[in-house]
Amino acid sequence: MDKSDKEYWEGTRKWGKNEVESFNMIMNDASSAFPREVWEMLAESFSCFKGKKILVPSCGDGLCALGFCRLESIVLATDFCDSTVEQVRNKARENGLLIETKTLDSKDLEDEPPDKYDLVFTSCGVLSCMTEKADLEMMFKSFYRVLKPNGRYILFDYHPSTRMFRNFVIDKSNENHLDRQKTFIVEKPYWEVRWRIEDCLRILMKLGFTLVDFREMCTELDDSPIYKNKTYISAYLPYWLGISVVKS
Ligand SMILES: C[S@@+](CC[C@H](N)C(=O)[O-])C[C@H]1O[C@@H](n2cnc3c(N)ncnc32)[C@H](O)[C@@H]1O
Repeated sequence: MDKSDKEYWEGTRKWGKNEVESFNMIMNDASSAFPREVWEMLAESFSCFKGKKILVPSCGDGLCALGFCRLESIVLATDFCDSTVEQVRNKARENGLLIETKTLDSKDLEDEPPDKYDLVFTSCGVLSCMTEKADLEMMFKSFYRVLKPNGRYILFDYHPSTRMFRNFVIDKSNENHLDRQKTFIVEKPYWEVRWRIEDCLRILMKLGFTLVDFREMCTELDDSPIYKNKTYISAYLPYWLGISVVKS
């Protein structure tokens, strides 16, 4: 485990007003935990989530994991930051949801047994935390190991087309104005990412996954309440990458 990455993330996923609002929407309609097209990918793979064993590694704010709890799945949410998993555990408890949480590195998932899960699900930047192809491979390998045969790995993540826009500053008085001077300044450790979509797909296939679905999603076209985002000019490029694969 890279200590500096862990230090970087510790304490960054604290819930604020947005997370509370999103959580209330999820309690009302669990599908709102996911962008519309990601929900389609999930629903195409599972007709019912009740009782399904789901692992949500690098769970962060835990909103997706809590969405699966709302759907009555059996959920393990993990992250390498203690405070992050503690927050998810507390939010579940406060709201009468059942969840198991563990502090684990997604690159090895240590004590998790093989062939256990129906679904591994990652969201919103978990791939982008893996800087090198080798890190990505280690993480996908650990997901492959814990999935049952025919189990799914479904992900949505920042599309690589967004990398060059990450440090644009949005002028709130003019939604279409972005400060281009900062375009290519990249902050460590998050956006120094050195893999392409092709690498992702090749690694998944090499490990024995079969591709089920692939999406490049524009937030401009997304009408789901949480993920709708019209403030980025980059919405005209794909914002989210979505991949669904099956362990064969
Ligand atoms: C961009 S956030 C995404 C979080 C979450 N999936 C979400 O939708 O909010 C990245 C999260 O991954 C965690 N993380 C990064 N690298 C990790 C690793 N190697 N193992 C476990 N957790 C990791 C961080 O602590 C952080 O909570």
